[in-house]
Amino acid sequence: SAAEKGGYEFFMLKEMYEQPKAVTDTLSPRLKDGDIVIEELGMTDEEIRAIKKIYIIACGSAYHTGVTAKYVFEGLARIPVEVDLASEFRYRNPIFEPNTLAVIVSQSGETADSLAALREAKSHGIKVLGIVNVVGSSIAREADNVMYTWAGPEIAVATTKAYSTQLIAHYLLAMKFAKVRGEISEEVFQEMIEDLKRLPAQIELLLANKERIQRFANRYLATEHVFFIGRGIDYAISMEGSLKLKEISYIHSEAYAAGELKHGTISLIEEGTLVSAVLTQEELYKKTLSNVQEVKTRGAFVLAVTNAGNIEIEKSADYVIYLPKTNKYFANSLAIIPLQLFSYYVSLGKGLDVDKPRNLAKSVTVE
Ligand code: G6P
Repeated sequence: SAAEKGGYEFFMLKEMYEQPKAVTDTLSPRLKDGDIVIEELGMTDEEIRAIKKIYIIACGSAYHTGVTAKYVFEGLARIPVEVDLASEFRYRNPIFEPNTLAVIVSQSGETADSLAALREAKSHGIKVLGIVNVVGSSIAREADNVMYTWAGPEIAVATTKAYSTQLIAHYLLAMKFAKVRGEISEEVFQEMIEDLKRLPAQIELLLANKERIQRFANRYLATEHVFFIGRGIDYAISMEGSLKLKEISYIHSEAYAAGELKHGTISLIEEGTLVSAVLTQEELYKKTLSNVQEVKTRGAFVLAVTNAGNIEIEKSADYVIYLPKTNKYFANSLAIIPLQLFSYYVSLGKGLDVDKPRNLAKSVTVE
């Protein structure tokens, strides 16, 4: 009903607006006196130091948070991470070694493939941590330990706020592991905590930009293909941006690691093709910028999402969204906001049922 939507036209918009609160609720109970405390992890420091490998297993958008988390865990804590789609993991006879931690990420806690992957890991004696939003769900009950995301109920099929809280759970874990394993200085750790605390207000700022993105989206209602490019974490962000768009707007979209463009996708670029480029990782900025120039030369219209200050990109991109400053590992939390808004407004502009896209279910409990 209209009342449930709190005045918003669709749950998706309401839930996007709930992101600052969802992030705060997931973050603040775990920040204590300049430290990260995750009691529900149920691991001693000694056990954390013994971890040799992490499997992150999930489906859909939750999988995309895992792709981001791989960069964060490896970069910060120097622990090797394998990210797997649950539907692949469960049938590929994965290698289980001692001191492996399996992390199952799921909003609903009921996704059939994710639950099966959990059981597979457990049956091999691997410790399973759930990152779950729905309290008391199957994955929450069966995991050895569960770290809840506090996004609250999510109604729109296309996830936004649960996704944002899953990212926070990964950041907290990675920072905790990095600290316990001596991979991060106290100074950097404290700076990162300050950056985490700033995220909710920064997300709010980006949400306030919605009219500008709506105007832009309205120009692309008839578009047939969109390509999302980025490197590193920006590639993971692109995967989620692409999924959001295709889920609710029915526009064909693909995410590509920017460096792979010239191995195929660039042949699809024509006059006016929309390319979204994400450039938040400064050490990769020049590399992706040259990919932007390559598609531009072939006629693409380029939407760029990049850090405030990178104004020279305006020479190569047609439309630029600037992000407030944060730690490079947290960039996903900011860059995804304009991409969520873009998908939302394309779907809205096309007159589609944003909250209930055809053929999709909020929770996939059958294989
Ligand atoms: C469905 C939803 C997606 C979600 C995926 C995994 O496909 O439409 O939004 O990312 O399932 O769901 P889960 O509840 O396990 O996070």
